[in-house]
Amino acid sequence: MRKLVIVGGQPLKGRVRISGAKNAALAVLSASVLAGEAVVVENIPDINDVRVMVDLIKSLGAGVAWQGGDSVRIRPPATVGSMPAYHLAKKLRASNLLLGPLLAKFGRAEIPLPGGCNIGVRPMDLHFKGFAEMGAEIRLEKGCIRAHCKKLRGTRIYLDFPSVGATENIMMAATLAKGKTVIENVAKEPEVVDLANFLNCLGARVRGAGTDIIKVEGVPSLEGCRRYTVIPDRIEAGTFMVAAVATRGDVELENVILRHLEPLRAKLGEAGAEIFEGEDRLRVTARGELRPIDIKTLPYPGFPTDMQSQMMALLSTVPGTSLITENIFENRFQVVDELKRMGARIKVEGRLAVIEGTDHLHGTQVKATDLRAGAALVVAGLMARGTTEITNTSYIYRGYHELDKKLKALGADISSVENGA
Ligand code: EPZ
Repeated sequence: MRKLVIVGGQPLKGRVRISGAKNAALAVLSASVLAGEAVVVENIPDINDVRVMVDLIKSLGAGVAWQGGDSVRIRPPATVGSMPAYHLAKKLRASNLLLGPLLAKFGRAEIPLPGGCNIGVRPMDLHFKGFAEMGAEIRLEKGCIRAHCKKLRGTRIYLDFPSVGATENIMMAATLAKGKTVIENVAKEPEVVDLANFLNCLGARVRGAGTDIIKVEGVPSLEGCRRYTVIPDRIEAGTFMVAAVATRGDVELENVILRHLEPLRAKLGEAGAEIFEGEDRLRVTARGELRPIDIKTLPYPGFPTDMQSQMMALLSTVPGTSLITENIFENRFQVVDELKRMGARIKVEGRLAVIEGTDHLHGTQVKATDLRAGAALVVAGLMARGTTEITNTSYIYRGYHELDKKLKALGADISSVENGA
């Protein structure tokens, strides 16, 4: 196991290129199973979650070849001999995104029921509701989801909550269903729109992604796609924006989509950061005193829950009282205990965290409890006095490509070392 060792206090300065979006890449890789011919996908981030998803679709019989850099060529399985490898699917919650494609293309799917995780129970009732209304039979047996249906049929489905995963799974299944599917109260995240664009590249007929209603006309089969480029990762970008402000630095982010960063721009601007926008880049600086702010996480275009922990770290040294309300996951304040060990003054009452800004954090040993909590501890370590050692860094490398290298290039005193323990 490795740990990250950070000596805080260095303002981040320079330029960083944002990688492809983890949550778009995972959905697109899963959707590639639906294709009738080879697909080439670019801007795929080389991170652990993606590597597991690649191994998963290989275990289904797909041919997958990295073509250098961030491009992957996939020959989709024509038939499905076996279901996704259990030991791999258990590792990756997003393996549940294989349900829709397998059910639609092969009439059956068998995926381990993804357990809950540190941030919440994360049920799949909305996924199952959609598949059942399309005619599938879903059974939960021995920790596995077993679904089958000779031919899915289009119907009207209402999502009680705009779930990203349920929207993606049902949309993928609908591409090969008989007739038209209308999905209401869908998620509008950029990653959902990216997936819809990829599906249409394959010859699917998906309309309305990014709005509250998605309509899909089923087609008999899908084709290949010569080249599809995944969107940049708005959460990686947001993490670097927060780190730049937290260290009072001056950082330019390249390869971003400004519209996807609106909530971050708005809230960091309210806190006193200065943000200058370019075509596909953005520069973040923070010189003066920062101001406390209130944040509520909401489905897109609201403030993203995946940026909540990182903001918590930043606000822990902003004078005054800041409030964070986590409306998406029921248990996403795991990082609070670790930040308090660094001197943060945070009180949690249910879904509300009250942060009393303190003058500074002090470095110590901390552990990542989930992906974004790990990112938040990196932000905290960058601005703390003294040395911070972060263990359980495997969480961080699930979702960030070469985070320590990118930060070191911006002047951070950070290194990844073997953790003796
Ligand atoms: C996706 O998870 C992302 N993961 C998450 O990113 C992200 O935090 C989340 O969307 C919200 O934006 C991927 O895309 C791989 P949801 P997902 O279904 O699809 C409830 C990260 O750090 N719900 O929108 O699992 C659920 O319990 C990860 O990159 C149901 O009740 O999120 C939660 O409270 C973390 N029933 C809320 O909806 C369901 O059937 C949001 O979940 C499905 C979800």
